[in-house]
Amino acid sequence: MKKVRKAVFPVAGLGTRFLPATKAIPKEMLTVVDRPVIQYVVDEAREAGIEHFIFVTGRNKTVIEDHFDMQFELYNTLEQRGKHEQLARLQRLQPGPGETSFTRQQVPMGLGHAVWCARDLVGDEPFALLLPDMIMQAETSCMKEMTELYQQSGGNVIGVQECDPAESHKYGIVGKGAEKGTGFAITGMVEKPAQGTAPSNLFINGRYILQPQIFDILAKQEKGAGGEIQLTDAMLALQAQQDFFGYHFRGNTYDCGSPEGFVEANVAFALSRPDIHDKVADTIRKLANEVVPMERRKEPR
Ligand code: G1P
Repeated sequence: MKKVRKAVFPVAGLGTRFLPATKAIPKEMLTVVDRPVIQYVVDEAREAGIEHFIFVTGRNKTVIEDHFDMQFELYNTLEQRGKHEQLARLQRLQPGPGETSFTRQQVPMGLGHAVWCARDLVGDEPFALLLPDMIMQAETSCMKEMTELYQQSGGNVIGVQECDPAESHKYGIVGKGAEKGTGFAITGMVEKPAQGTAPSNLFINGRYILQPQIFDILAKQEKGAGGEIQLTDAMLALQAQQDFFGYHFRGNTYDCGSPEGFVEANVAFALSRPDIHDKVADTIRKLANEVVPMERRKEPR
């Protein structure tokens, strides 16, 4: 069985839910405590043994490429000032030469289309796919657990979690079959099912290990939910030829695609840091009692 060496990160989205913050800054570069959102998913992929990082970008996203490049002047300055801890951290997070690739989606035609844009960079091998909107907190990362399941099961592996049935129309939902090792057989999938029609309450959480045959299907995939080329539809077609397994992730997931999820992520990651936990917890308790919602948002004219 081929090892999962490459990961794809679709980062072409416009981030309209974060305007005006995302007018000039990609939403993936907004920070959760002190790391940009995209860094969390890249770190998760690295922890799972990924060796090559493929970004599907769009216009106004070049700063993502800069972020993962070497910054000689900065590194030298930190060295000269004796800031060895900061320097060591940056170097630890730094992808090595030739470990990153970038391509552009050009037109926003949906997640399936974004993934298809990475076909030549991935080539003929299984690959991980991580949606940067979703960042996670767990003892062992979701992708690492999925890679371990994949080594036993082969096929394709999708990360899933439970959702409130009233929210299932916002996600891809899978049907659950027999248990298999740490996972289960997936019996079906549907993207953004109409209220009351979801096959389960297990939603696709933005982590996938896929076989390269998905690209042949994506090349011919018709538009689906929301008028976009949907990855879930292509996976359903591939399921006629290959096994799909679900990995039920039990850690916490924060949807940084929405302002409230992004704030939640900031609070949770700040609270998880031993150096600032107490101060942040006190501040949150204090503010929750003191600050009341404003009747109308007041912005300077
Ligand atoms: C995408 C996928 C969906 C998945 C979701 C997780 O939807 O199409 O299957 O559940 O990500 O965030 P999107 O959030 O792009 O609408």
